[in-house]
Order: sequence, then C-alpha cells, then structure tokens
Amino acid sequence: MLKIQNLSKTYSNGSIKAVDNINFEVRPGEIFGFLGPNGAGKTTTIKMIVGLLRPDSGKILIKDIDNQEEMIEAKKQISYVPDNPEVFEKLKGIEYLNFIADVYGVNAEDRKERINHYLEVFSLDKAVNDLISSYSHGMKQKIVLIGALIHEPDLFILDEPMVGLDPKSSFNLKEIMRKRCSEGKSVFFSTHVLEVAEKLCDRIAIINKGKIIAQGTMEQLRALEGQEQSLEQIFLELTEQ
Ligand SMILES: Nc1ncnc2c1ncn2[C@@H]1O[C@H](COP(=O)(O)OP(=O)(O)OP(=O)(O)O)[C@@H](O)[C@H]1O
Ligand SMILES: [Mg+2]
Repeated sequence: MLKIQNLSKTYSNGSIKAVDNINFEVRPGEIFGFLGPNGAGKTTTIKMIVGLLRPDSGKILIKDIDNQEEMIEAKKQISYVPDNPEVFEKLKGIEYLNFIADVYGVNAEDRKERINHYLEVFSLDKAVNDLISSYSHGMKQKIVLIGALIHEPDLFILDEPMVGLDPKSSFNLKEIMRKRCSEGKSVFFSTHVLEVAEKLCDRIAIINKGKIIAQGTMEQLRALEGQEQSLEQIFLELTEQ
C-alpha cells in the first residue's frame, strides 16, 4: 500500500537532518502507528508522503505509484488530515465539504450519503451551515476529518488525529479506522497517545532524531525490551538510549 525507501529530508540548507534514511512499509488492511518524541521527524515524513514537501532523496510508493513522478495519481489514493486544522474560514462547513467532494470527483449520491453520515457521527450536523470561522478548534478538526473521509481512499493518513477531539469523536474515529482496515484499506497515523497506539495498531514504527529505531507488531517490540512491557515503557527505553 505504502512503501518508504531510503527517505531523507534536511532543512536549513542541510544543517537540520529531520528525516534520515528511513524505510518502512504499510500493508493493505493494516493500521500502522508512527510514534516518536517531539521533533523526531513524523510530520516531515507525513508531509513528504502527501506531497507537501519534496524529499532530498529516497522514494515513496503509494500503491506502487511513485509520488514524485505521478503526483496527481498518487494523491488520488490518499486522504490526509494534517496536525493543524487550517481550513478556509470564510466557507460554511457544507461549502467546504462540497468543495472537497468536487476536487475528488465524488458523485452527488455518494457525497450526500457520506456527508450526512459523518456529520451525524461527529455531531456536526447543526453547525454545518455556519461559517468555519465560528467553529471551535475541535469542530474545525472534525470538518477536515469529514472532508478526508468523503472520497473513501485506500490510504488514510492522519497526523496526531486524536488531539482536540472529544471522547466520543475520538472513539468514533477509531471505529472508522478499524472498519476501513477490515475492508482492506490502510491507515497510517502519528500519535503521542501510546495507549491508543498499543490497542489500535497492527504494526508500529518508532522514529527518533530522524531515524527509525524500532518497528513491528507489539509482540515484536516486546521481544526487544521484555515481554511484560507496555508500549509506554518500550518507547521510553528505546528513545532514551
Ligand atoms: N520548516 C522547517 N524549517 C526548519 N526546520 C524544521 C521545519 N519543520 C520541521 N523542522 C525541524 O525538523 C525536525 C523534525 O520536525 P517534525 O515536525 O517532523 O517533528 P515531529 O516528529 O512531527 O514532532 P512533533 O511530535 O512535535 O509534532 C525538528 O528538528 C524540527 O525543528
Ligand atoms: Mg508533528
């Protein structure tokens, strides 16, 4: 589904090595968690995957499509929820959702059904006719999330999606992630909430200072640090070394 090969990215003319030769793969039907301390390189990696940043070197294959060679084709396979919900404030919620549905060419019937469904799931049906500028932080996040769910892509990419969501929305999002994966689609997301990652993810990669320091199933990660360990203990030990 997603293959990351020898991917690197520096900032400030090479003086900051944000992502340093990383490799991993997200398989069909898999929820893959991307963990790491602040500044480890998670957002930089995600922005390269979704085409917002150009890698210095390395390859990103989305369903075997090279995202640097066939950017539009690659983008059709994914949807992306950024860490900061920067939305068009002067649009109403419903105008934003229709705009996104237009961009991805979602037909009238599907869009109506999906929009109504997700507005109800995320309790945004009352606010959808208001300007986005009047929304709270969490509401903005939810409208971006719904926008990302409208075209049902095979790969769903989220950067710290649980931040700012209320408990019910967070629960519903986890259910949506699971449902997607049971249909053979994949989810790739970064998080600092290790309890969520431990319960939800099929596999996990931990990045530290731009390098992947561990990856695998919970079983495989426990094999590194001890069978009784929680993901939190494993994470703290690995990132302190
Ligand atoms: N636009 C930028 N210009 C210069 N340096 C940057 C830029 N964006 C990120 N960095 C640096 O790159 C490194 C990786 O940052 P990144 O945002 O990818 O981390 P992260 O893992 O997403 O962190 P967090 O958990 O805090 O979101 C950090 O050292 C950061 O300071
Ligand atoms: Mg980040």
